[in-house]
Amino acid sequence: MSEGVDSRAAAARAVAAVIGAGQTLGTALGAARGARALAPGDRAHAQALAFGALRFGHRLKHVLAQLLGRPWDQHAPELQAVLLVGLYQLEYSGTPPHAAVSTTVEAARALGQGRAAGLVNACLRRFQRERQTLLAGADGTLAGRLSHPEWFTEALVREQGEGAASLLAANNEHPPLALRANVLKTSASALADRLEAAGEAVRLVPFAPAAVVLDRPLDVRELAEFREGLCSVQDAAAQLAVPLLGVRAGMRVLDACAAPGGKTCHLLEAVPGLAELVALDVDAARAERIVENLSRLGLEARVEVGDATDPAVLAGESFDRILLDAPCSGSGVIRRHPDIKWLRRPSDLAPLAARQRLMLASLWGHLTPGGRLLYATCSVLEAECGGVIDAFLRETPEAVAVTESASLELAGLPAPKAAGAAGIALLPGIAGTDGFYYACLERRIR
Ligand SMILES: C[S@@+](CC[C@H](N)C(=O)[O-])C[C@H]1O[C@@H](n2cnc3c(N)ncnc32)[C@H](O)[C@@H]1O
Repeated sequence: MSEGVDSRAAAARAVAAVIGAGQTLGTALGAARGARALAPGDRAHAQALAFGALRFGHRLKHVLAQLLGRPWDQHAPELQAVLLVGLYQLEYSGTPPHAAVSTTVEAARALGQGRAAGLVNACLRRFQRERQTLLAGADGTLAGRLSHPEWFTEALVREQGEGAASLLAANNEHPPLALRANVLKTSASALADRLEAAGEAVRLVPFAPAAVVLDRPLDVRELAEFREGLCSVQDAAAQLAVPLLGVRAGMRVLDACAAPGGKTCHLLEAVPGLAELVALDVDAARAERIVENLSRLGLEARVEVGDATDPAVLAGESFDRILLDAPCSGSGVIRRHPDIKWLRRPSDLAPLAARQRLMLASLWGHLTPGGRLLYATCSVLEAECGGVIDAFLRETPEAVAVTESASLELAGLPAPKAAGAAGIALLPGIAGTDGFYYACLERRIR
C-alpha cells in the first residue's frame, strides 16, 4: 500500500463518523485510530486532514454537488468523506496534487468504496482542471465562501450585521495554543521566558494577565511546564471569568458546571484563602477530570457530582459567588472544534436556552443576598447569551446586571461588543480569542 493511504483512510473514517453518525471529531478520531494502529506521524496527518476537511467542508460540498451532478449527501458518508478529504488536500494542504489524488483513490478502496474509486479519481482530476469555475460556484454565498452552514451564517448576519464575515473567517483559522500561568508558582512573563528559551514563539495578552499564547500547534503534554503544574490550557477569553466574578479571600464560591475544572483551578490560583470552593458537575466521568487537574496543579476543592437544577443537590447551602459556565452550542469555539459546524442544528437552540434558563433560576436560590452570579457561555448566538439573561432579568426583580462595573477589571480589552444591556461578548476575529459571552448579576439586598 502506498505511503499516506492509512492516514487518509483514517481521516475519511473520522469525517464520515461526524457527518454520517453525528459523532464528535474527538470521539471519531479516537475510534478511527484504534481501528488500525497508525504510526505517530500518520496519526498527526490523519488529524490535520480531518480537521481541515470539516473546517472547509461546507465550501467543498458545493464543489462536490457540481462534480457529482446531484445532491452530494445522497452518497454514502464514507464516499462523501473521502471526497472532502481529497478536495481539502488539493485546495488547502499543499500536498503535491498527483500524490493527493492517487492516495485518496487508494484510501477509498481501503474504506470499502472500491466500486467508487473511479468516481473519486474522476472528481479530483476534474477539480484540478476546472478549479476556478467550481469554486466560483461555491463562493456565490457568504456561507459557501466562508464555509459555514447556511442557518448559522444567516443567524450571525441577522445578529452581527457586517461583523458576521470577520467572525466566520476567524472560525476557519488555526487556533493558537493558549496557556494560563499558574500564578501560585510562576507568572505569565516567567513562563513566556522559559518557553522562548526552549525555542517557542509566544505572546502575552494585555487583558488576560496570566495568559501566554503559542502560535505553533503542539501537544501540551510535551511541555515540561505543563507536567510540572506551571500552566494549564485555557483560551484568553475563558480567563476573563475569574476577574469578572470578583472573588475575594474568605468567600464561599460555587463553580456549578465545573468539569474539566479549567475555571475551578483558575479561581483557586488567583484567589488563595477562599472559605470554600465547591466544583459541581453532573457528569461523573468529567468530574474525575476536575480531580486530575486539581492534583496536577497542587490545588484543593470540594468536588461534587450532581445536577445543578436538582433542589436536593447542595440543599441549604449558599454562596457569595456562583459561576454558571453553562453547557451551550459551542458556537464560539468552532475554530477549535470544526465538527460543531456539522453537528449543531437550528433546532438545538431552543432546548439549550431552556436548559440554561432553568440552571440560572435554580442556582439563583443558592446566592447570598448581595452575592454575584456570573453567567458564561462559549456561544456567539443571541438565544443562549443576551436572550437568556434578558428573560431572567425580566422575571427576577432582585437580579441586577453589574457586568459593566465588573468589566472595569479587564483593562486593555479591545471593546467587547455590548450584547444587550446586560452582558459582554467577545467575538472571534477581534482580539484573537475564542467567542465568549459573560453576564454578571448581583442579588439585590432587600
Ligand atoms: C462548558 S462545560 C464547563 C467547562 C468548565 N467550567 C471549565 O472551565 O473547564 C459545561 C459543563 O456543564 C456540565 N453540566 C451540564 N448540565 C449540568 C447540570 N445540569 N448540572 C451540573 N453540570 C452540568 C457538563 O457536564 C459540562 O462539564
